[in-house]
Amino acid sequence: MNTAVTLPTTQQTPQAEQNLGQINRPMIAILDFGSQYSELIARRIRETQVYSEVLSYRTTAAQLRQLNPKGIILSGGPNSVYDNRAPHCDPEIWHLGIPILGVCYGMQLMVNQLGGEVARSDRGEYGKAALFIDDPTDLFTNVDDGSTMWMSHGDSVKQMPPGFELLAHTDNTPCAAIANHQKKLYGVQFHPEVVHSIGGLPLIRNFVYHICKCEPTWTTSAFVEESIREIRAKVGNKRVLLALSGGVDSSTLAFLLHKAIGDQLTCVFIDQGFMRKYEPERLVKLFQEQFHISVEYVNARDSFLKALAGVTDPEEKRRIIGHEFIHTFEEASKKFGPFDYLAQGTLYPDVIESADTNVDPQTGERVAVKIKSHHNVGGLPKDLRFKLVEPLRKLFKDEVRKVGRSIGLPEEIVNRHPFPGPGLAIRVIGEVTAERLNILRDADLIVRQEINQRGLYHDYWQAFAVLLPIRSVGVMGDQRTYAYPVVLRIVTSEDGMTADWARVPYDVLEVMSNRIVNEVKGVNRVAFDITSKPPGTIEWE
Ligand code: XMP
Repeated sequence: MNTAVTLPTTQQTPQAEQNLGQINRPMIAILDFGSQYSELIARRIRETQVYSEVLSYRTTAAQLRQLNPKGIILSGGPNSVYDNRAPHCDPEIWHLGIPILGVCYGMQLMVNQLGGEVARSDRGEYGKAALFIDDPTDLFTNVDDGSTMWMSHGDSVKQMPPGFELLAHTDNTPCAAIANHQKKLYGVQFHPEVVHSIGGLPLIRNFVYHICKCEPTWTTSAFVEESIREIRAKVGNKRVLLALSGGVDSSTLAFLLHKAIGDQLTCVFIDQGFMRKYEPERLVKLFQEQFHISVEYVNARDSFLKALAGVTDPEEKRRIIGHEFIHTFEEASKKFGPFDYLAQGTLYPDVIESADTNVDPQTGERVAVKIKSHHNVGGLPKDLRFKLVEPLRKLFKDEVRKVGRSIGLPEEIVNRHPFPGPGLAIRVIGEVTAERLNILRDADLIVRQEINQRGLYHDYWQAFAVLLPIRSVGVMGDQRTYAYPVVLRIVTSEDGMTADWARVPYDVLEVMSNRIVNEVKGVNRVAFDITSKPPGTIEWE
């Protein structure tokens, strides 16, 4: 079975065409109707070790037949099935003979298209609700009666389509779960994928294992083995170039490629001069000495500093750094090349987002709104004349970590805090100079040392120092000082999209402050940033 069909709804970028090809394994297809949880459904299914992909709601029955998933899930969505612009699925999918689970909007669509009735409820149901199970077999095996499930709906099923039976209800929603057992069509009004739904995971397992008859084949070791085979088949005896940053994605990528093609891989580490203290040396040493993966070290510190001289605007700084990175990378590719392939650490969420799966065909409007502006220095121009190898493009971040761990990447890389592509250049506020970078590096090292030493590293999403381009007056000994302030930015977060300032114990802040002012020449004041995101951002620039 070749599952790599071309969906007309998916923008075929050159990268997508160059992808490694899909892994031929049983999968659950999720048709996305614009729910913020579509991606989460895929992750939950993958947690059961069954492969899952998010596809456009416009995927046709013929395309699905070709894909041959073991099951289909119709996601929730913001619309009412009666809206003029409500997204509908190809009605032929009900006749494919493939088990289907409709979630929230997906259930209402099923009811609407199969001859039942959906109507606006007198009372919508939002938040937690106790689910009372009327049929404890099949989908609800091992789901406790009275389980808490997460609801979020204004419309409800008023009448089930012919052939359907009631599986569960809540106090407010008479038809909270329904099924046509014979046709293996199921609908749930709640969201089993969210953590608040206590019986959600058993329900997903029942659907995946018992109803769709999937086996748990989506495992890290199976992924590694198949990726290695596919990388070898694709690359042959050609050479591959990889820009190593030291983050978990590029490091895992390097490991995987090295396992697959050994010395045909060249890793280039471009030192822009914006890494944390000791990190460039450490990274190169770790790869060369411990992992025996050779790394070409490119010292580009001077050219980056020169390009940034006199520049204070944050966006302009980012633009210049991005531009300089591409230029340096091109030079490096000539110097160490020629190369046929470029390895990129594209992940699955980037693929879903760039796939533009959620555009309404009539209006051209996006159905799901995802806000994400990650600026990555590693983002290389489209016109570099390389073919792409993107072995991680099917993985979520937590899956990359699992793969990284399984192939021997140390915890310090697998679980490290996020670090922005432009590095310390966006933490030296205003103009970046060598002197300011050095001051910031020393202060930042103290922050990290204190956090690590107290075992607090994993309590925080990020913990770092920011240097402000102003001076204030202080006194040390009997001397007046006039020096820079450093700001401590220590935050907790789930995903970087929102964040809160961490309630760091006072004595830890005290030690950091004392050490920074005493040990870092050029700093005489330390402040602690107590702004959440929003309205602040995590980085200062
Ligand atoms: P903000 O500052 O937008 O940051 O709240 C959110 C998360 O993204 C990281 N970040 C970046 N990561 N390249 C990256 O790879 C970048 O240019 C970049 N800018 C911000 C930031 O550290 C935080 O984790």
